Formats: sequence, structure tokens, C-alpha cells
Amino acid sequence: MELKITCIPGDGIGPEIVAEAKKVLDRIAQKYGHTMNYTDILMGGASIDVHGVPLTEEAVAAAKAADAVLMGSIGGDTTKSPWYKLPPERRPEAGLLAIRKALNLFANLRPAVLYDELAAACPLKEEISKAGFDMLIMRELTGGLYFGERKTVTEDGVRKAVDTLAYNENEIRRIAVKGFEIAQKRRKKVTSVDKANVLDSSRLWRSVVEEVAAQYPDVTLEHMLVDNCAMQLVKDPAQFDVILTENMFGDILSDEASMVTGSIGMLASASLNDTKFGLYEPSHGSAPDIAGMDIANPIATVLSAAMMLRYSFDLDREADAIERAVKQVLKEGYRTGDIMSDGCRKVGCSKMGDLLAEFIS
Ligand code: IPM
Ligand code: MG
Repeated sequence: MELKITCIPGDGIGPEIVAEAKKVLDRIAQKYGHTMNYTDILMGGASIDVHGVPLTEEAVAAAKAADAVLMGSIGGDTTKSPWYKLPPERRPEAGLLAIRKALNLFANLRPAVLYDELAAACPLKEEISKAGFDMLIMRELTGGLYFGERKTVTEDGVRKAVDTLAYNENEIRRIAVKGFEIAQKRRKKVTSVDKANVLDSSRLWRSVVEEVAAQYPDVTLEHMLVDNCAMQLVKDPAQFDVILTENMFGDILSDEASMVTGSIGMLASASLNDTKFGLYEPSHGSAPDIAGMDIANPIATVLSAAMMLRYSFDLDREADAIERAVKQVLKEGYRTGDIMSDGCRKVGCSKMGDLLAEFIS
């Protein structure tokens, strides 16, 4: 089949890691008889430099015209880059938020998996990490505090800033449905995370999630308060299958979960709407300090490309082939610097991409 993919190389290490993902996809195309049709667009700092804004309407149109979007990373050093002297709505991150909204990408899937070969990188005590873990954070991505009304005003000479956390039941229901559907294909457990002991939005969240749960009797639902969840992630991560949560909590918990794996350079993500369309990107950032040095880890982006094949194109066999190649590369002892350990062979970004492409079978 022909796969129409819009790529956003972005900033920092973004262009390098996207190039490696394309290498692997091209190998898939060759091996399994597909055609990859790529269009690159600018977003984030790269777009600011050329167009003065982090995302243009043309770029959004190009993304919409594709079947899926594969992204590297955006943003720069917030203390040094001139991009961060711009007003907030013109900084690189505003481009990412705008594309999520424009494409209605309300469901953000962030798997956090402890690979056997990388267990040593896990910062938890061995008695905890030896159980392993494989969880998926399902984060609501187009509502809540990120998109509520906000303002900064001065009242009686005192500066005041307001951000609004609002959810309606439809927004909660559609993300809950995604969470339960995915749980059915996994270990059939949903942990819905909220702050229902304080927030109205969380109390509505809890009641809508319970309504949805009634439609999925084969899936076990539990509720957990977000502060407790932050603790449980380091105390007993093996208890989690699908964590279902709102935008801001998901932002924070997904960073925590990725840190607990000890190898954020390995973690993929998908942002989906209610069709097959999705935007796929690594969970890590643009790492401007190592950009252009050919030392970044491309595996998270390569695994994001695998998620793209699975969710947007229903190419499970091809996605499996990529995931197998990643396991093989690790088993054979190849490591980029971020996941390097004694006795392994250190390789750069481009060499890692070559090996992954070579191991596609
Ligand atoms: C993420 C990032 C973004 C977010 C930033 C860059 C706006 O932290 O994708 O988790 O907060 O959603
Ligand atoms: Mg984040």
C-alpha cells in the first residue's frame, strides 16, 4: 500500500532521529512491498526561523492531507534560545499545542516499558524492578488546563494570573472509551487517575469513567488519586496496565513513568483523533545540547513509527518487525550513549538506524 506520511523533523536532535526512522520505514517498504510517500513540514523553532510563527496554516493543511504525522521533537534551550524571548503564543511549544488542537488529537498514548536488557538503567531498587513493568498512560490531550481560558491581569495594583480547568462529559467519555478499548487488548485493567477529593472536574471525570466502564465488563477499573499515583509509580509500577488521566496529570505522570524506565530514549508515543489519523513522536524532548553530534538515540522515534504502522495503517506485521529489530539490536549489545552499559558496543544515531534497518526481517 501507499503510506502518505507528513514528517516534522523539528528542532534539536529532531532531524537526526526522524532521518533514522525513515531509514527503517524505507526498509519496511522494500521488504513488505509498500510505498512511503513523505512530505516534510516545519514546526516549532524551525518554523519560527523561516516564517516567524511556530506553525503555519499551510503546515496544518499538509498534515491533514496525510494519513499520519511522524514527528521528531521541537523546542530549544529555554534559557539561551532567542525563541524564548518571543511572546508565549509564538514560541516553539505553541506550535505543538496548536497542531494537537487543529487535528483534534485528544488521545495521547504513552507506553512506559522496562526492557529486560535495560533493567540495569532502571533507577528503582532491584526488589521493585525485578517484577518488570509495562504500562500505557492514556492522557487526554486537547482539554483541561492546557486549553482552558487564561489571563493575567492587575487588580488594585496586584498582578493575578488565572488558568481554567474545564472538562465536559463528552471530552471525558471519548478518552475513557479509548482507554478501555486499549485495555481490552492488553491486561484488561484501567487505573483512572484524578483528584476527586478536591476538584469538580475530577468528580465528573470519575462518574463518566464509571459509566463507560459499565460497557466493558471484562476490564477492571480502579480509581486512584493523582498524588498517590505519583508514589505508586515508584513503589510498585508493575501494578499498572492502562493509566487513564486528564491532560496536566498525564503530562506529569508520563514524565515520571518514563524516568522510572531509566531509558527515556526508548519511549514512543501516539496522539490520536477518532479516525485512524495520528501524530507519532518520541516521548523525549529535542535535547539541543547534543543536536547534530550523531549521538542521539533514535529508538523512541523508530518505535513511534512502529506505533504509526499499527494504529494508523493497521500494519501489525510490519510494526512487529520493527519492535523485533529493536529487541535484537539490544540483545546483540548495541547501545547509544544514553543507554550504554559495561560490555556493550557504543554506536551513534546513524549507525543505530543502519542496524535497525538491517535487522528488519
Ligand atoms: C509533552 C510536552 C508538552 C506538553 C510541552 C512541550 C508543551 O511536555 O508533550 O509532554 O506539556 O504537553
Ligand atoms: Mg511533558
